[in-house]
Amino acid sequence: MLKVENINVYYGQIHTLRDISLEVKKGEVVALIGANGAGKTTTLRTISGLLRSKTGSITLMDENISHTDAHKLVSKGLAHVPEGRHVFLQMTVQENLEMGAYTVPSNVKAGIEDVFERFPRLKHRKNQIAGTLSGGEQQMLAMGRALMSKPKILMLDEPSMGLSPILVQQIFDIIKELNESGTTILLVEQNAEMALQIAHRAYVLESGHIKLSGTGQELANSDEIRKAYLGG
Ligand SMILES: Nc1ncnc2c1ncn2[C@@H]1O[C@H](COP(=O)(O)OP(=O)(O)OP(=O)(O)O)[C@@H](O)[C@H]1O
Ligand SMILES: [Mg+2]
Repeated sequence: MLKVENINVYYGQIHTLRDISLEVKKGEVVALIGANGAGKTTTLRTISGLLRSKTGSITLMDENISHTDAHKLVSKGLAHVPEGRHVFLQMTVQENLEMGAYTVPSNVKAGIEDVFERFPRLKHRKNQIAGTLSGGEQQMLAMGRALMSKPKILMLDEPSMGLSPILVQQIFDIIKELNESGTTILLVEQNAEMALQIAHRAYVLESGHIKLSGTGQELANSDEIRKAYLGG
């Protein structure tokens, strides 16, 4: 579904992503884990067309999207929930969801019902201004808004950041359900333990390159990963 081949991304003179290749197959949850500053967000932003690679290619469902504008990728089935949520703070929950359906305006009504079914907390707050939602509710709204575009592949950048353990569990349960109902997922997480539990496969990024990859289980059992990311 998504293939990244040998991308190299620079911020000015700084070589941030070094020859990264990764693949997400249809129906998979693939996790990208790594320490702060490893390049996880940069990788997602490059796939989304917000940054450009100097080399290599990015292919979405057999189409080369390396030079496609970010806003066009949504209608091609790629949705990105950025780090830090970024909902429209001045708009209501309902208005935020409507904005998410700009590529498929015919889906607004059914889409909103679908999102409310998945996130009942949002339904109760549909007329609340997004800026007054709690952190966890904003995360749910950011995910719900991305789902309004009916994505084939959903990229999530640290969906569990700053949430209480119960909410983290809920968000992971929802990610799993979304995947089981047919959405392919590329998940960036600091919470390596939980990410590896739900991931079919995972990649470990270190200083801008892929250090290791394997099934979620293989990586969860690897001594190296246990020491570096799972607390021994
Ligand atoms: N706009 C920018 N200009 C210059 N350097 C940047 C920019 N954005 C990120 N970087 C640098 O690129 C490197 C990778 O950052 P990135 O945000 O991709 O890391 P990350 O793996 O997502 O980290 P975190 O877990 O903290 O979110 C870091 O050293 C960061 O300081
Ligand atoms: Mg990041």
